Amino acid sequence: ARKIIIDTDPGQDDAIAILLALASPAEIDVLGITAVAGNVPLELTRRNVRVVCEVAGRRDVKVFAGCEAPMRRPLVTAEHVHGATGLDGADLPEPTMELQPQHGVDFIIETLRAEPEGTVTLCPLGPLTNIGTAFERAPDIISRVREIVLMGGAYFEVGNITPAAEFNIYVDPEAAEIVFKSGVPITVMPLDVTHKVLTTKARCAVFSDLGTPVGNAVAGWLDFFERFDVAKYGSEGGPLHDPCVIAYLLKPELFSGRFINVEIETRSELTLGMTVADWWGVSGRAPNATFMGDVDADGFFALLSERIATL
Ligand code: BDR
Ligand code: CA
Repeated sequence: ARKIIIDTDPGQDDAIAILLALASPAEIDVLGITAVAGNVPLELTRRNVRVVCEVAGRRDVKVFAGCEAPMRRPLVTAEHVHGATGLDGADLPEPTMELQPQHGVDFIIETLRAEPEGTVTLCPLGPLTNIGTAFERAPDIISRVREIVLMGGAYFEVGNITPAAEFNIYVDPEAAEIVFKSGVPITVMPLDVTHKVLTTKARCAVFSDLGTPVGNAVAGWLDFFERFDVAKYGSEGGPLHDPCVIAYLLKPELFSGRFINVEIETRSELTLGMTVADWWGVSGRAPNATFMGDVDADGFFALLSERIATL
């Protein structure tokens, strides 16, 4: 199974991504999950990761708290999308499993040094603070990473937190810049993909119909999460962002994109955090990321519901 570290700021869509990974032990070995501040403050994201592990019956998963603020800026959160807890929509007990004592950034560094070179994939689902900090502090680990598969950015879909920027990149653009300049093979799930993965009524019903605690949690989260975006975009369902990262590891053939140059805007106030993605190859700059543009959404939901049903 492919070894991964999930770096996350749950978030209902982060939660479903974690469940998809935990439901796929034949293909994915979750070495640990590091929480980061993003959708809600760290105090909540480090709790929420454990809520998700417990609902999946996986108290054995190692959960770490990482950074509580972006590398060079104050934190921006998104309670207006995710609710006050970040996981509003499902009524779940307070977690009792332990948080690991080690800092999330130290876990990332130590794991990359300890595992054979080129075997660990990083899966960031939130602002890139933990990864950027680890790369800055321990540059020797950069060449040891197999791949980074992340949710963030946009090209044709432009922005969701500002007219120009997607939330994860906007919150910590300096960390994103470190990651995109690192030279590690990067695969990006931008809004261009996730806005095609819509949680229609029929797709959501599949989860409530499971009649399991996990199915009910997923249905509750999807129902809460889609309210904001359906009102905002007028679409027939909300976009489901972060699970695309895990789905890509399981079935890369669901996605298509281009290997292109992507630079991060860190200076302009107007377009801060924009992923300047050279889709048409006009810049002459060397490609540094595979930027996805399309997805088989029905195939994605078939995979997600098949796996969630096993939990
Ligand atoms: C991203 O921002 C968060 O609100 C979601 O969890 C996702 O990671 C989408 O822009
Ligand atoms: Ca997220």
